[in-house]
Amino acid sequence: MNQKILQMQPSASVTLMGKAKEMQKTNPAIISLAGGEPDFDTPAPITMAAMKSLLEGNTHYVVGPGILELREAIQKKMWEENGVVCDVNHILLTPGGKNAIYLAVNAVLNPEDEVIVLDPAWVSYEPIIQAAGGKCVKVKLDYKNQYRITKEKLEAAYTSKTKMLIINYPNNPTGRILHKDEADILEDFLLAHPDIYLLSDEIYEKIIYDDHKNISMASRESIRDRVITVNGFSKSVAMTGWRMGYMVSNKEVFQAAYKLYQHSLSCMSGFLQKGAVEAFGCLREMEEMRQIYQQRRDMFTGMLNRIKGVRCDLPEGAFYAWVYFDVKNMNSMEVCEYLLENAGVVGMPGNAYGEENICCMRFSFATATEDLRRAAENIKVAIEKIQ
Ligand SMILES: Cc1ncc(COP(=O)(O)O)c(C=O)c1O
Repeated sequence: MNQKILQMQPSASVTLMGKAKEMQKTNPAIISLAGGEPDFDTPAPITMAAMKSLLEGNTHYVVGPGILELREAIQKKMWEENGVVCDVNHILLTPGGKNAIYLAVNAVLNPEDEVIVLDPAWVSYEPIIQAAGGKCVKVKLDYKNQYRITKEKLEAAYTSKTKMLIINYPNNPTGRILHKDEADILEDFLLAHPDIYLLSDEIYEKIIYDDHKNISMASRESIRDRVITVNGFSKSVAMTGWRMGYMVSNKEVFQAAYKLYQHSLSCMSGFLQKGAVEAFGCLREMEEMRQIYQQRRDMFTGMLNRIKGVRCDLPEGAFYAWVYFDVKNMNSMEVCEYLLENAGVVGMPGNAYGEENICCMRFSFATATEDLRRAAENIKVAIEKIQ
């Protein structure tokens, strides 16, 4: 057996989502806020276009990195919305953003190469790096400093083996977005180290609140060629089950990733790609979903912040509340189990994302408003019982 894979941790979010589904079978009152999945249906124009294409017999291999129509739509979006100039020939359609990250990491790394990941981080970066034979070097960002990126922390993690830095904004799990001063630090860091790539995971880009704006690092001219942008349709247009993502990079990374792609995936489904083209015309639907997430965010975090010993900063993007618990010195695993048993609420413990210093939980508010309200009420009762 492959030792690298045997040593990998299973995905904590997939495990807890599965556990919640099992528990709901016998206890329908259990509220799962563990998963990272929009509760909305995919907008009808997208589904209709895919169905039409399927009925027309678009069921054969689709040779190439993605249909031209879809890659052109992505190229246009990258320019108009992200300020990123990219070559349509270097856009690769992938089964989800996750696979784009997998391909990009494998394209760049040689065994023992190092990748810097900012902690707390999404659960899959480290296993993907390990599977590619690389080493994940974690930079612990500080809750008390609003998880801001600092030059000192980046420099302390850099070695001659560093080949990539992975960032993710809007962030899962913290809900932070990238601020301009941090983007400047990243740009300077890349300019100081011309041998590394920046992988920018922008999968939650469309879910940003208030007046905040997304910054795409590939829009920075000086480093554009070294930024690999990952994005997709799962979160922005509620298409998780379609498995549609993409990677935008320079020619070298594209060519290496596409070689691996040809031998592992062959191609993406043609009729699903036809559906995805329509996503770019669904701006109204996306905006409606975003507004609902924002209302839920305000309601849920407002209720949690009224509980003694519980604190949640307003997420700036994505659909996660990153909640600090100061309860009887419990750690996040203990709070997770306590809330499951006493509030019937499934959340993700912060330690699954590498936050070991303080007790945080991640709750997804991509969940029906009534369930969220009930979850917050249950958490209040359960926490006040032991305060
Ligand atoms: C930070 C982050 N990146 C990438 C992904 C992958 O998304 P998908 O493969 O569904 O497009 C997720 C999904 O949860 C995520 O949270």
